[in-house]
Amino acid sequence: MKALVYRGPGRRELAERPRPTIQYPTDAVVRIVKTTICGTDLHILKGDVPTVAPERILGHEGVGVVEETGEAVTAFKSGDRVLISCISSCGKCVNCRRGMYSHCAQGGWILGNTIDGTQAEYVRIPFADTSLYQIPDALPDDPFVMLSDIFPTGYECGVLNGKVAPGSTVAIVGAGPIGLATLLTAQFYSPAEIILVDLDENRLKVAKQFGATRVVNSSSGKAVEAVLQLTGGRGVDVAIEAVGIPATFELCQFIVAAGGVIANIGVHGKSAELHLERLWAQNITLTTRLVDTVTTPLLMKTVESGRLPAAQLITHRFQIDDIMKAYDTFAEASKNRTLKVIIENSGGR
Ligand SMILES: NC(=O)c1ccc[n+]([C@@H]2O[C@H](COP(=O)([O-])OP(=O)(O)OC[C@H]3O[C@@H](n4cnc5c(N)ncnc54)[C@H](O)[C@@H]3O)[C@@H](O)[C@H]2O)c1
Ligand SMILES: [Zn+2]
Ligand SMILES: [Zn+2]
Repeated sequence: MKALVYRGPGRRELAERPRPTIQYPTDAVVRIVKTTICGTDLHILKGDVPTVAPERILGHEGVGVVEETGEAVTAFKSGDRVLISCISSCGKCVNCRRGMYSHCAQGGWILGNTIDGTQAEYVRIPFADTSLYQIPDALPDDPFVMLSDIFPTGYECGVLNGKVAPGSTVAIVGAGPIGLATLLTAQFYSPAEIILVDLDENRLKVAKQFGATRVVNSSSGKAVEAVLQLTGGRGVDVAIEAVGIPATFELCQFIVAAGGVIANIGVHGKSAELHLERLWAQNITLTTRLVDTVTTPLLMKTVESGRLPAAQLITHRFQIDDIMKAYDTFAEASKNRTLKVIIENSGGR
């Protein structure tokens, strides 16, 4: 089968690989119908994620059709249309039992990290019963590809951890797919203001269309002043970091209001400064989180009911043969006005 393989920092290749097979009774093999690329895949290619070894097939998002199931799988059968969660969960260990699937003793974020991922024609899914979700028959694939990772991430790590509430003032730093998913799900709670901060004018324009009340282009280096000015000098109740670099994490520390929350989403490859000389007296809360995907069923309902326009984040489409081009398009997002790319596997069988 065709697969996108990580060859070490800065190097990726579309390669030929054997089709995965069932290794444990709780596994399923899924034929990928659609997959996508995440900002985290770009971090991997930068060498920021040392757990990813060379030769790994990347990808932790996608929808597909169950091809084969191990003998212990009871919730799915061959032919079922499924959403693949970016987090594999055994459902039984101490962390799974408390809803922290991201730190499942045998699972967590393993797809496209420590085991082969979804940017291929087929993928092996461990703990299939508790890591796949049935897609309702009548609904299209596209919005559910967005629910493997980015929507649960924006919602859990940003909105829920940030305690977005009716009337609150929110800043989201980073208007990439994750920042925009955070923007869309923050609106479940009717905050008074949602300020989006990014360097990319096109993404800020999209953010406005998706409901941002204000946007700040931080390329001037004056984002702190701009956000403070927009909030009458007070700062924001919730500052959400959705980039993953020291500068944006530090920005959040200077725009959070007294009593506010800094909710970090970004994957960081370097340490960042913590400004306790300011924050010690600010009564703030700082949260970090690897997405648990505990909200996937809830988010699927919001897609089903038409409340969450998840597919609007899709800007480009490719066939799996052109996945290298899909990566180029996603990596040069500003030039190409890319948000999420869909990679289709229409051959397959
Ligand atoms: N915590 C989790 O579980 C989890 C899950 C998925 C993704 N992530 C992380 O979330 C982050 C965002 O993901 P994405 O797919 O949206 O990535 P992305 O790279 O597409 O978007 C990042 C955005 O940040 C903007 N940006 C860059 N530097 C900036 C600066 N100095 N000031 C303001 N904006 C700046 C870019 O223009 C871009 O729009 C990444 O770090 C990703 O790895 C975390
Ligand atoms: Zn991801
Ligand atoms: Zn577990």
